[in-house]
Amino acid sequence: MASMTTLGEFIVQQQHAFPHATGELSSLISAIRLAAKIVNREINRAGLSPDIIGAVGVENVQGEVQQKLDVFANDKFKAALEARGEVCGLASEEEEDFVVFDGERGKNASYVVLIDPLDGSSNIDVNVSVGTIFSIYRRITPVGEPVSGKDFLQPGCNQVAAGYVIYGSSTMLVYTTGVGVNGFTYDPTLGAFALSHPNMRLPDNGTIYSINEGNYIKFPAGVKQYIKYCQERDEATNRPYTSRYIGSLVSDFHRNLLKGGIYIYPTTESAPDGKLRLLYECNPIAFLAEQAGGIASDGRQRILDIEPTSLHQRVPFFAGSRLMVEQAQQFLNQSA
Ligand code: AHG
Ligand code: MN
Ligand code: MN
Ligand code: MN
Repeated sequence: MASMTTLGEFIVQQQHAFPHATGELSSLISAIRLAAKIVNREINRAGLSPDIIGAVGVENVQGEVQQKLDVFANDKFKAALEARGEVCGLASEEEEDFVVFDGERGKNASYVVLIDPLDGSSNIDVNVSVGTIFSIYRRITPVGEPVSGKDFLQPGCNQVAAGYVIYGSSTMLVYTTGVGVNGFTYDPTLGAFALSHPNMRLPDNGTIYSINEGNYIKFPAGVKQYIKYCQERDEATNRPYTSRYIGSLVSDFHRNLLKGGIYIYPTTESAPDGKLRLLYECNPIAFLAEQAGGIASDGRQRILDIEPTSLHQRVPFFAGSRLMVEQAQQFLNQSA
């Protein structure tokens, strides 16, 4: 049998590579791994279980209809992170305010986590890939003081780790601690994630563009022009490009990470700040994009440089292959 590195072994190796590492971050990531396995088990049998499919009947703070799996995933990640004791607080798409972990270990812990527990939740009922996105920071407030808003409102460049789980045809966990991006595929027969995609690199250029073109009429002029550019014939640049849009950021980004491409969720007339949330969707994906050699911007500014002002703030998002994102930005700037 070919040799296999499990996520558990990889985490230990990484920890040994940094002599001052305390093991807290390793322990935190293994709590995420545990919650991912639990959520994966439910998603796999979602079609069989009326407890999992469908809406809860209430709206979350975003004004979205909360799905049962949004709530389930939120509860499982929250419980796993609190139990491990390495996190002092958590902010989630599904929680209006941040949650303080004030148990004996939690209140002295060094890290905060921001999370989109279930990304693409409108895809659950139709058996299409969904995900989880997470972002990890060191707290700013000193240990001993209560964790506060400013611990969560840090710019993305302060992230110490970020990643996603994709519950797809295979389940994968992809993450970075700031030294490249690695992907692990879940083997359900072993109950283990195995390193399948070491040192993932976003191709500099690609031929896939991912955007909800149904909103075309509401897009800014520069985005409309970029879409037209993608659709024109030009042999030298391999156009027309291919359009691919799943409607779950994790899945759309993951495909483009492997194949090369651009993901766009721009401002629209009805969503003047875009739809995606800076803290637990755009920042972690931007960190991964940059660590894999790509770019992420709001069309003008680097995502990781934005100073957040509120937990659920939204930003327009352009992420993926470097040359494609630069090209899209040029169209935006020219039309401004
Ligand atoms: P979530 O399910 O976490 O609320 O996120 C949904 C987001 C994102 O996953 C996806 O890319 C986008 O919404 C799709 O939006 P549209 O349906 O407007 O294209
Ligand atoms: Mn949602
Ligand atoms: Mn999401
Ligand atoms: Mn979500």
